Amino acid sequence: LTVALLFGGRSSEHSISCATAGGVLAAIDRDRYNVIPIGITRDGAFVLEADDPVRFALDAAELPEVFDNGTRVRWPESSLSRQLTVSDGAGYRSLGNVDVVFPILHGPFGEDGTVQGLLELVGLPYVGSGVLASALGMDKHFTKTVFQQAALPVAPWRTITAAEWAEAPGMAFAAAEQLGLPVFVKPARAGSSVGVSRVAHLDQLAEAMRVGLAEDSKVLIEAGLSGRELEIGVLQGRPGEPTRASVPGEVRVTGRDFYDFAAKYLGADGIELVCPAALGAGEVAEMQDLAIRAFDAIDGAGLARVDFFLTGDGWVINEINTMPGFTPISMFPTCWLATGYTYPQLIDELIAVALA
Ligand code: DAL
Ligand code: MG
Repeated sequence: LTVALLFGGRSSEHSISCATAGGVLAAIDRDRYNVIPIGITRDGAFVLEADDPVRFALDAAELPEVFDNGTRVRWPESSLSRQLTVSDGAGYRSLGNVDVVFPILHGPFGEDGTVQGLLELVGLPYVGSGVLASALGMDKHFTKTVFQQAALPVAPWRTITAAEWAEAPGMAFAAAEQLGLPVFVKPARAGSSVGVSRVAHLDQLAEAMRVGLAEDSKVLIEAGLSGRELEIGVLQGRPGEPTRASVPGEVRVTGRDFYDFAAKYLGADGIELVCPAALGAGEVAEMQDLAIRAFDAIDGAGLARVDFFLTGDGWVINEINTMPGFTPISMFPTCWLATGYTYPQLIDELIAVALA
C-alpha cells in the first residue's frame, strides 16, 4: 500500500506536525507500506520531502521545519485518478498511485477540516476525522457547545471576539470576574497550548487577550479548574468492532503554571507524564465511556485524544484533539503502548480503518 504522509502546514503547530511525522516515519512498517512524505510549507506549498525520520525528529534546540525545496506535489486531476505527480527543475514525474493519505497535521489548515475537504474533493481516502468533526474539534467554542448539548461535562466559559474586545473590553473583565480567577485565556482554534495564558490577577488579562487574539479572531475565557489532568486515546474500530479507549495517562504539573508549549515540546521542567495513570477501575471505566461519547458527539473518525480534569465535582472534559501529537513524548502513542499496541500496530490500525 502506498501512504502519502502530509505534515508541516500553515498553523503555529507546524513544527510539532513535523515531529509527529518523524515519529510515524520511524515506526511505519516498511514491508507493508510505501511512504510518500509530503511536506506543507508555512506558506502552504506542497513539497516532496525526504523520507528521513531523523531530519524531522523533535529537537528542542531546533524544531523541525518544512522548507520550500522548489518541488510541487500535485493532487490527482479528478476523483477517477489516484496518481500523484511532482514537478521539479526537470519537469513532471509520477509518484505513482496513492492508496491512503495520512494528514498528520495539527492546527488550522490541517486539523480543522480544510485539508479533509480537499481530500474529499479529489476522492482520496484518509486517516482520521472528516470535515465536520475536524472543524468542530479544532474550535474550542463549538466543541464545548456540542459537548454541552450531548450532556458531557465542560468547564464554564465565555467566548470573546476580537471586535468585542476592541469595542467593549469590559465584557472580558466581567467574564473573568464572574468565572472566578484563575481563568485560562485560549485562542478558539489553536493547539499545543500556543497562545494560552493563565490569568491569576485581572491586571494580567489584557496581555493574555493580546496573546490569544494574535492566534485567532476569537478567544475563550475559561474557568481554571483544580484537579488532576488526565488524557486518553480513542481509536475507531474496524467494521463491526466497537470504538475503544486506551488506558489513561496523567500530566502532573509540579513546578509550572500549566502544561504549556515549553513543557510539551521543549523539555522544560515542572511536568511529569505518568502512564498508566493511578486511577481506580471504576474511574478508568467512566473516563473511557466519556471519551467515546465525546468522540461520537463530534462525529469523530479514526482517532482522537480526549483531555480531562478530574475535579472534586467529578470529570470535566477539557478538549478533544482529532489529530493528536505522535512525537516520541506524546501521550497518544504512550497510552496505546501502555494498552498493549506497538507503534507500528497503531499505524496499521489507523490505515486499516481509513480504508475500511
Ligand atoms: N495539538 C497537539 C499536537 C496535541 O493535541 O497533541
Ligand atoms: Mg489541543
